[in-house]
Amino acid sequence: MANAKVTKAVIPVAGLGTRFLPATKAMPKEMLTVVAKPLIQYAVEEALEAGIREFVFVTGRGKSAIENHFDKPYELSDTLAKKGKMHELELVEKILPKDARIYYTRQGEPKGLGHAIHAAAGITRDEPFAVLLPDDVMCTGSENALAKMLDIYHETGKSVCLCEEVPMERTSQYGILDVVGSVENRRAAAKGFVEKPKPEKAPSNLAVIGRYVLTARHMDFLAEGTVGAGNEIQLTDAMAKVAAENGFFGYVSASKRFDCGDKVGFQMANLYFALQDDYIAPLLAPYVLEVAAGLERRGK
Ligand code: G1P
Repeated sequence: MANAKVTKAVIPVAGLGTRFLPATKAMPKEMLTVVAKPLIQYAVEEALEAGIREFVFVTGRGKSAIENHFDKPYELSDTLAKKGKMHELELVEKILPKDARIYYTRQGEPKGLGHAIHAAAGITRDEPFAVLLPDDVMCTGSENALAKMLDIYHETGKSVCLCEEVPMERTSQYGILDVVGSVENRRAAAKGFVEKPKPEKAPSNLAVIGRYVLTARHMDFLAEGTVGAGNEIQLTDAMAKVAAENGFFGYVSASKRFDCGDKVGFQMANLYFALQDDYIAPLLAPYVLEVAAGLERRGK
């Protein structure tokens, strides 16, 4: 029997964004902009490009700006149309294609990523689903990693996570794969996962990046509510159980990624995407070089 087609993506957006205070005091961190587009829109566009049409946003208090962003802006569209601002009209109208749908559900309490994902179980039911963590912004220019991961799932029926090699001293910031054999064709077979291990306890240096294609079995394990690292319900622990039971693949990313949950990664993403923009790039590039030359002169 062919493997069930993945049609839904779960996007957890309930986090407090404490690393970006005070900006995130009254605004969801997922609405922080990289150039002129909020982080959440990068994730949604990537999933749309990979063929996903249904989204489950797991939200919390103070996140209504996200719902408004994906809603139809009648007054704004009307004003832009009357003023003949057709380019701007397209920017606000094309955010979500007509055949796409968003479901909203709430996490309730901040009990960890696994708890947030399980809040979507009533909507994903017994179907496999994708997960995108909007803090990780991917450059989809060379490849859409999520699309590749969906291909692997549809071919093998096994869950897939995106992964990337990290320096050993950074294993404690990520879920880490316990791999079997060597990486072939960008695929790493995993028999387990460990959430944020110290380098001496890390089974490898392959780290989980915020893109997943998961079987419905994960929801069974998450329903048990077992508390793990950091006293939270960890998605990684459910993945470890699925990997032990049925195997799991890591897809070794070929794409550039920015960790926009971190101030440095966020600034790098802004610079990178700004320098891809036809209007901004020719004006910004000379300034960047001027600043860099100044830093070099001062030996920084
Ligand atoms: C989460 C996961 C971790 C994963 C990371 C990827 O951690 O728990 O396993 O490696 O996302 O971005 P967080 O970054 O939310 O602490």
